[in-house]
Amino acid sequence: MNTTQSPNTVWHDSQTTAQARQTLLKQKPMTIWLTGLSAAGKSTLAFALERLLIEAGHPCYVLDGDNVRHGLNSNLGFSAVDRSENIRRVAEVAKLMNDAGLIVITAFISPFREDRAKARAIIGEGVFQEVYVSADLAACEARDPKGLYKKARAGQVPEFTGISSPYEAPESPALVVDSTKLDISSALELLKAHVFPLTRTAKSR
Ligand code: ADX
Repeated sequence: MNTTQSPNTVWHDSQTTAQARQTLLKQKPMTIWLTGLSAAGKSTLAFALERLLIEAGHPCYVLDGDNVRHGLNSNLGFSAVDRSENIRRVAEVAKLMNDAGLIVITAFISPFREDRAKARAIIGEGVFQEVYVSADLAACEARDPKGLYKKARAGQVPEFTGISSPYEAPESPALVVDSTKLDISSALELLKAHVFPLTRTAKSR
């Protein structure tokens, strides 16, 4: 059983199973973990994929970095320790959502390999699908939709990924989507071609 900080808690078993929920929702749950620089296109792709999945009848949900930092993770900043906690919490939430039967799409920079490895361990091998939304720094900086790269260059945003904090690219992602070479609809097609076959349960194959 999972470790807990308190010796005074006990685990309560459900009276149903994850398998029963999968049968109910007619899909194999998974977490599509998008990682990449700020402005690489993670959120755009995540919400577009969510729309496609919902239109195809798949219960799913996006956990987006900026959004989650407005609520659950509003007490976290951008130090390595806080980013690590950000990713840990999101991985735990994604795991619960997967257990509930949902497909989860996450859009977090998640710059550190070690944190993504921990997320993989929490969510589970096979269920965790690492997708590298790659875009070189120059392209992201040119896009700069929130003006944050400009501010970071001016020293107004500390520990900004790619400028004053590192980004460690995945070594063997399940999929690479290069958003500098592909337009949004081609990138989405690539993502869709990877994800949709994985949603099938043994029965629907
Ligand atoms: S992560 O590194 O902890 O995974 P997360 O994806 O949650 O980051 O949040 C990234 C978003 O926060 C960026 O898209 C950007 O809008 C904003 N942000 C604010 N400060 C920073 C910073 N120092 N580094 C990166 N992103 C930042």
